[in-house]
Amino acid sequence: MGQNSHHQDMAARVQTLRQQLQQASYEYYVLDAPTLPDEVYDRLYRELQELETAHPELITPDSPTQRVGEKPATQFTSVRHNIPLYSLENAFDLAEFRAWEDRWRRQAPEVGPVEYVAELKIDGSALALTYENGLLTRAATRGDGITGEEITQNVKTIRTIPLRLNTDTPPPIVEVRGEAFLPLDVFATINQERTTNGEPPFANPRNAAAGTLRQLDSRIVARRRLDFFAYTVHMGSPTPHPPTSPPPHLPTSQWQALQLLQSLGFRVNPNRQLCQSETEVQDFFNTWATARTRLQYMTDGVVVKLNDFALQQRLGFTQKFPRWAVALKYPAEEVPTVLEQVSFQVGRTGAVTPVAELRPVQLAGTTVARATLHNADRMAELDIHQGDTVIVRKAGEIIPEVVRVLADLRPAEAQRVTMPQSCPECGSTLVKPEEEAVTRCINTSCPAIVQGAIIHWCRRDALDIEGLGEKWVKQFVEQGLVQSVADLYDLTVEQLLPLERMGQQLAEKLVGAIAASKTRPWASVLYGLGIRHVGTVNAKTLTQHFPTVEALASADPDAIEAVHTIGPEIAQAVFQWFRVPANQTLIQRLQQAGLQLSASQAEPQNADQGALAGKTFVLTGTLPNLTRTAAAALIEAAGGKVTSSVSKATDYLVAGEKAGSKLTKAETLGITVLSEAEMVEMVGEGS
Ligand code: IVH
Repeated sequence: MGQNSHHQDMAARVQTLRQQLQQASYEYYVLDAPTLPDEVYDRLYRELQELETAHPELITPDSPTQRVGEKPATQFTSVRHNIPLYSLENAFDLAEFRAWEDRWRRQAPEVGPVEYVAELKIDGSALALTYENGLLTRAATRGDGITGEEITQNVKTIRTIPLRLNTDTPPPIVEVRGEAFLPLDVFATINQERTTNGEPPFANPRNAAAGTLRQLDSRIVARRRLDFFAYTVHMGSPTPHPPTSPPPHLPTSQWQALQLLQSLGFRVNPNRQLCQSETEVQDFFNTWATARTRLQYMTDGVVVKLNDFALQQRLGFTQKFPRWAVALKYPAEEVPTVLEQVSFQVGRTGAVTPVAELRPVQLAGTTVARATLHNADRMAELDIHQGDTVIVRKAGEIIPEVVRVLADLRPAEAQRVTMPQSCPECGSTLVKPEEEAVTRCINTSCPAIVQGAIIHWCRRDALDIEGLGEKWVKQFVEQGLVQSVADLYDLTVEQLLPLERMGQQLAEKLVGAIAASKTRPWASVLYGLGIRHVGTVNAKTLTQHFPTVEALASADPDAIEAVHTIGPEIAQAVFQWFRVPANQTLIQRLQQAGLQLSASQAEPQNADQGALAGKTFVLTGTLPNLTRTAAAALIEAAGGKVTSSVSKATDYLVAGEKAGSKLTKAETLGITVLSEAEMVEMVGEGS
């Protein structure tokens, strides 16, 4: 009895210490308004540490002592985001901003004046934080937007990220997104240290932040003082709460969401504004153009979001971007360098792109040795000559471009650079239609085009042929083994064996992977064909309305354009593609090879709403891989609903081990019972 109450006292003391430390740290780091003298904080922290060392059973994952990092991990595991992390469309001037505005207004013509939220665009690294029942359980990098890496240990060292949400009634799942960044002074210190230690300095704070987040030793991360601004919060459907403690109000606008994030304990960038007009947005942008240089972190623009969530939801997303937001970018850095020569690259569509090979130069933190010259018209406009001094700049995020030529500095007798007459890859005559900017090779068996088409076919989001990367495709084409994607399905292990660095096992694996691609759905096949303007989203839309290749191939442009979100340009491209005899042969051969050129029964008819739209699920028992919350999130992400008890309204019961009365009830009601694997498969079919 005495033992017991002693333990209770201790537990209570630990609890108090944690609350005091958590509050002090919030005031210090998030509010930047310390209330506790450092010595007092240190004393309380040591007391907590001692108590926890003596009683490890009292340690909780949200204890302030858990922010110091752990011993090195060997690697990160990849995680699939329940909701993809989209990127933002850029606008580089007022005209582009207005074009964005026109576009969304066309989609919502009756909408009058709107409110915008203007936020600074932080140049760091995006993070997705998952809170289960209020507790931070997972932090992931953006990755490619669909899958990222799990870096929870590292993220726990960021003091401005709460380990527990500041609410007594947390929804079961909350996902917070925002930007992790390195304050500029920390960046400078790190680089000084690296230089002293003979290590290469980080190119810029963004790389330094990204590199730090992916450090395997979280103790190093803890020393680097990363910081975080939150900008998005997703809350799953609120599950029943006791009536006495209502859940936090679901925000209905971005402005409210930012306030909610703040109240949940996050640092939210204070430099934001609820704007009532485009002029106010412009003023905000102009004010920060100079003011941002005084901030302790890097910004590269202003993110403008439509405030109203209902309107946001209505506008939705393109393949990559939300239609309800745009990034107004500050002009990019420009530097001069010397053009050494121009090379010409042939892409998968036959488009020939002139590329400037430059004397390497530092630009916005990275070394630039090549830059695009876009096309023949652009080259003519620049009047570019061999050996010219040129100004390069980073267009948007990644690809540098030549923006100007300093003609005064041109060497005497320098030769003007022009487009070649014939394809640098196959020698056939290039064509440039008057009205188009692009110069093309139209030889369908040009190795560059064939190679590009096959690489596209093998992509993860197309036919997903594992292991068949650029290196092998190149060899296949060079050795004359394949001339089109259809040839892949005739390849044999024996044919592959003579290739350099090929072995029996690998050859078998590749042939197997190619065969496996025959099961990919019609939408993936259509995307894989590489028809202009047909990305994954359009491919999916088209296959929903044209469930067989015959239906699509025989549709006239009007019929194709009649599909919602398919414009005339796309319709023309699709129509024309199916008129080319070589493409008709290709389709026949793919059909013979056994690829899916029609939608199977299992494919959902309305993927806009997700594969499980309208379906109600109940989870029971222990699932082999997923936690309950993760399984529920997956189902909800695919449009399904998860409820807690089995009734006639239940469509599926997902049952794991030790399933009890719910299983019995489902069986008596004749409800379909799924395993975890079956449920995952159903979710996957929609995506
Ligand atoms: S909103 C779907 N807000 O910029 C909404 N992004 O170029 C997309 N970023 O990947 C993000 N500051 O990492 C948003 N205030 C802000 C931001 C911000 C920085 C980053 C973010 C995103 C990238 C897109």
